[in-house]
Amino acid sequence: MKKNLFQKNLPWGIMAFLAVGVTIVALAPYVTLNSENFNNATTRYATESTLRYVGLFVHAFAGGIALLLGPFQFLDGFRKRRQNLHRWMGRIYLVSILIGGLSAFIIAPGMISGLVGEVGLMSLAVLWLWTGWNAYSSIRKGDVKSHREWMIRSFALTFAAATLRLWLGTLIATQLPFLQTKYSGDFDALFVEVYRVVMWLCWVPNLIAAEMIIQRRRKPQTLSSIGQNSPQTQNV
Ligand code: HEM
Repeated sequence: MKKNLFQKNLPWGIMAFLAVGVTIVALAPYVTLNSENFNNATTRYATESTLRYVGLFVHAFAGGIALLLGPFQFLDGFRKRRQNLHRWMGRIYLVSILIGGLSAFIIAPGMISGLVGEVGLMSLAVLWLWTGWNAYSSIRKGDVKSHREWMIRSFALTFAAATLRLWLGTLIATQLPFLQTKYSGDFDALFVEVYRVVMWLCWVPNLIAAEMIIQRRRKPQTLSSIGQNSPQTQNV
């Protein structure tokens, strides 16, 4: 069944809404420059080390730029009509990933989630930089198809900033009824336990979804190319 315009654009609309919404909500506490407004994981950054404190700001704002720009790079009409703007937004997106990814290595060691969470986010940072690099190098070679696929992977990882916050809220809500029985009323213990899991959950499913989207996009092309090369088609 053919999808109408609304149905076609709905997934993009939800993605863009979440990306913009999360950027605003996630960055709002840091704009105040008051560490009392930071969350359970980041309040201590202000007192621990200047490097990590600055790193957190650099990371958060670079990540925010990537998350804000990313969705618009996938709009076909916009890309075709405003090619130059698409290129510039792409460059800013990739530089933001470079800055956000490198600064993640400054702030990840010593996270409250411990080694499991640190390895989760550092793996994400490595993949974020790697997919960004591949998106860049493929377009420099003029390979548009490959560039598109790497950008899908790259943005799926950027979008981890949104899914992280969605998973965090959801898992905290599911654990709250057990606050007394399982965590002896200690909310910080509950938060750390959930945080550890979310450091993986925020990006692994995103990457799987990206791979599924890429495979689905490849399918019709494969079928049509089989069709073109089949003896029947050649006879026509
Ligand atoms: C996708 C790759 C990313 C990696 C590897 C990464 C890594 C990290 C790490 C290690 C922390 C410190 C967490 C802690 O101390 O518990 C952090 C915090 C933070 N990141 Fe990212 N990040 C990524 C993407 C983004 C994006 C796209 C944004 C855009 C909004 C963002 C915004 C933030 C903010 C605001 C914080 C402070 C914690 C909070 O308030 O939730 N990050 N990130």
